[in-house]
Amino acid sequence: MNRLQDKVIVVAGAGGIGDELARRYTGEGAAVVLGDIDGDRAIATAETIAATGAACIGTLLDGGDEGSIRAAIDLAVGRFGGLDGLHANYAGFNDNDSLHDVTTIPMEDFDDVMRVGSRGFVLCTRHAIPEMLKRGGGSLVYTSSDAAFMGEVVRLAYAMSKVSMHALARHVAHRFGPQGIRANVICPGVVTHPRFEAALPAEIVEAFTDSTLLGRLGRPVDIAAMAALMMSDEGSYITGQVISVNGGALMRP
Ligand SMILES: NC(=O)c1ccc[n+]([C@@H]2O[C@H](COP(=O)([O-])OP(=O)(O)OC[C@H]3O[C@@H](n4cnc5c(N)ncnc54)[C@H](O)[C@@H]3O)[C@@H](O)[C@H]2O)c1
Repeated sequence: MNRLQDKVIVVAGAGGIGDELARRYTGEGAAVVLGDIDGDRAIATAETIAATGAACIGTLLDGGDEGSIRAAIDLAVGRFGGLDGLHANYAGFNDNDSLHDVTTIPMEDFDDVMRVGSRGFVLCTRHAIPEMLKRGGGSLVYTSSDAAFMGEVVRLAYAMSKVSMHALARHVAHRFGPQGIRANVICPGVVTHPRFEAALPAEIVEAFTDSTLLGRLGRPVDIAAMAALMMSDEGSYITGQVISVNGGALMRP
């Protein structure tokens, strides 16, 4: 499929899911800038994709830093002629391994997760929209998590940062929809990839698998498939939505 032919997309946040987003978007014809705070890794992934003949550039992108976000967007505009899509996919996981609740979480950890995962997505959005307006519209996709709905006893900052982007997408959809800009959120369930598998014991992975209705964990390709629909004109009537891709592990209205 070539649903993204001639589109220019910034993927902010590489890694297990982000690398696959870049592969899928370029595979459907887009030119992609792939940015990550681990710039060397993003560049290496982009080079692998570019070696297949696709238009893909990797770069250092610190999703908490306005100048860095601006530079990645400028790179896309400068090298590929404009901007049609931005997928904000990165996350800081500072509070993932902690046992803290709201009474004990170190506020510097809380602030850091919110600075990157909430404020950073606002920065991505405010720098992307003016460029998209020059092209007559565009699509913003944000990677959230089913953790936004679960009320876990830990990962407070992570969940709060994820919920915040749901409000951001609705705001953008409402304010800029008439000018051709759409904004949507994907909430992955548990998605397995090598970095994820390295971090979790086998029995936890098995428990996650049992929680799905389809007998397997999610894969980056499952998230990329939904993202490509949201990015493409085939998804042109989808905006302001928060959609889980989770094998049925969590159902909500
Ligand atoms: N894998 C899952 O089970 C799962 C489930 C729900 C949601 N998600 C979400 O999917 C997204 C991708 O996660 P993943 O599983 O691919 O994890 P990952 O760790 O492989 O990728 C996350 C990437 O974000 C980058 N990053 C961290 N801080 C950054 C910053 N300040 N600026 C730029 N990049 C930064 C990391 O370097 C890493 O490459 C995240 O938003 C995550 O919250 C993942």
